[in-house]
Amino acid sequence: MITRETIDKILDATRIDEVVGEFVTLKKRGVNLLGLCPFHNEKTPSFSVSVPKGIYKCFGCGKGGDAVSFLMEHEHYTYPEALRYLAGKYGVEIEEEKPSPEQQEVLDEKESLFNLSAFAQKYFHEKLLESDEGKAIGLTYLKERGYSMETVRKFGLGYALNQWDAFVQTALKNGYKKEYLEKTSLCKSKDHQLYDTFRGRVIFPIHNLSGRVLGFGGRILTSDKNKPKYINSAESDIYHKGRVLYGLFFAKSAMASSDNCYLVEGYTDVISMHQAGIENVIASSGTALSADQVRLIRRYTSNITLLFDGDPAGIKAAFRGIDLILEEGLNVRLVLFPDGEDPDSFALTRRPAEVRQFIQDNAKDFISFKTQLLLGETSNDPIRKAALIKEIAATIALIPEPIARTLYVQKCAELMQIEEKLLVTEVNKLRRKKLGGQQQAPQPEEDHLSVPQAERQGPVHDSNDWQEKEIIRILLNYGDKEIIFEVENEDKRMEEVPTRVSDFVVQDILEDKLDFENVQCRTIFQAFAEARESGASPSEQTFLNHPDQQIKSLAIDLQTSPYTYSSNWEDRHRIYVSREDEILKILVIEAVYSFKLKKLEKMILANQEHLREESSRQEKDQDKILRLMEKERDLKAIRSAFAKALNRVVTK
Ligand code: CTP
Ligand code: MN
Repeated sequence: MITRETIDKILDATRIDEVVGEFVTLKKRGVNLLGLCPFHNEKTPSFSVSVPKGIYKCFGCGKGGDAVSFLMEHEHYTYPEALRYLAGKYGVEIEEEKPSPEQQEVLDEKESLFNLSAFAQKYFHEKLLESDEGKAIGLTYLKERGYSMETVRKFGLGYALNQWDAFVQTALKNGYKKEYLEKTSLCKSKDHQLYDTFRGRVIFPIHNLSGRVLGFGGRILTSDKNKPKYINSAESDIYHKGRVLYGLFFAKSAMASSDNCYLVEGYTDVISMHQAGIENVIASSGTALSADQVRLIRRYTSNITLLFDGDPAGIKAAFRGIDLILEEGLNVRLVLFPDGEDPDSFALTRRPAEVRQFIQDNAKDFISFKTQLLLGETSNDPIRKAALIKEIAATIALIPEPIARTLYVQKCAELMQIEEKLLVTEVNKLRRKKLGGQQQAPQPEEDHLSVPQAERQGPVHDSNDWQEKEIIRILLNYGDKEIIFEVENEDKRMEEVPTRVSDFVVQDILEDKLDFENVQCRTIFQAFAEARESGASPSEQTFLNHPDQQIKSLAIDLQTSPYTYSSNWEDRHRIYVSREDEILKILVIEAVYSFKLKKLEKMILANQEHLREESSRQEKDQDKILRLMEKERDLKAIRSAFAKALNRVVTK
């Protein structure tokens, strides 16, 4: 048991930002730090850390606490485990009172599994480096593979002796229980006899985010076709395959600092890339990539580059991965390795600079990748082409973020040389299906791609109240996003002020006391205006599931229409995928100005009507006419100022 004095020392040394920062990328926002909450799935940061108070709090899911509770929640540590972790981190020496046998008994079961796994890792590692068999067989093999001693140590690689129960016996002698040996699948039992799971194999330990060992992979060293090449630990209370990425512990800081990560197939690829100096590499070894794993990656970066060998199995896995990653809102690029090579072999036989260069030169976005692979030489076959476009449209439709979707639509239209509008229609059709809107707005089941109808348009910009709808579209799709305004502060210096899109739009429109004519638009806007006072914002689902069918239908329309502006928008603004925040800012300002211009237009027309009425009266009220004329002049002046401002933004 840790003494009270030690606990106080540990807590005194602990800094919340340093502890949380190991797991979450934090950015400074005012006095606090802000990041993506690791406890729920979110795309805009609402997880806040206060250094002076020593606490964290998520405004999305409500979780909060201090450094110790963070570790307990996030790493599933027990209280003593969390303290030990912090003591290790801050170099506090732990004074202990010996636990009583009863206390020992109740030690958390997970802790026992972790302890046993740590023991096993140490045991296998020692056997590799110190036993004759380990050195002669295991270490020789690893060296032949090209691994340095530094690499072997860094990844804690090991060797399991080729004996029936060498590990089991050692573990039992050291007091580890049979129950836990079986639960970690380090041993199995046959006829009441325990034997080792890993025999005559090199061992790859698998770590969690904080570097604790959860499980193992064991590679065979003979070419015995009857035995599996790899044996991997089974799932256990501490090892959930879908929530672990091999190498993440070693890669996470490089992932955050480079804002990218390389996803490879397995242990050997990760290790070889590391040895070549490329450290932001992880693997979903053993299983297909899961949504949980993608969310794990998102804590550090939103950019994933898949590195695959070019065999059919690799390509198939890549396709599945692409869809999953895009659906989670991350960006994906792909690199295929030349025939017969994988990242492992490639990294070991080239200089690090060459490896980097190759990846840089060969990384493709998913559209180019799919197009190149699926289209091949049959690019002139219209049936093949239509099928491919459908395939790509289906992938684009998975992307939750409208701007990204728009950009990919443009890219695909360009590559396939088809009308952009056709593709927009196809993607929207698929998104409607996905959002469950097909009952409200039935789509003809004809094939838009083989029946070109150049005049098809999105649901927004062909209506005469598109300015109102555009405002609502922006609130629904981007309300929670931030845009940065440069504002002059008191010292006459330019300061960047991050502003939530919904705050900016709502405040701007309310200040000018402008109203919506479209009833559904007005209702949705009011919901945003009311929510703003409480600091929250209505969720996407609020309107998609709205009891009023017309509102529901409008929300679906607006969330499936990627853009409203004419097709030369991209030329005028020189859109690049990497500048999504800039695009968003232009989009928002453009929408607000367009909305206001439209309102002004109406006010001017109404005023003119009024003026005409007054002028045609028998007894003219000269004062009134004069006031109306002044009003017209004022309105026109504002209109011209707005138009100029809009023009500045639009033709920037
Ligand atoms: N892998 C696995 N289980 C298998 C086969 C492969 O978990 N049955 C994973 C491992 O993580 C391995 C990766 O997939 O590192 C790559 O597979 P492969 O190239 O077949 O393994 P290597 O050990 O690299 O074999 P080789 O030396 O033949 O390339
Ligand atoms: Mn390999």
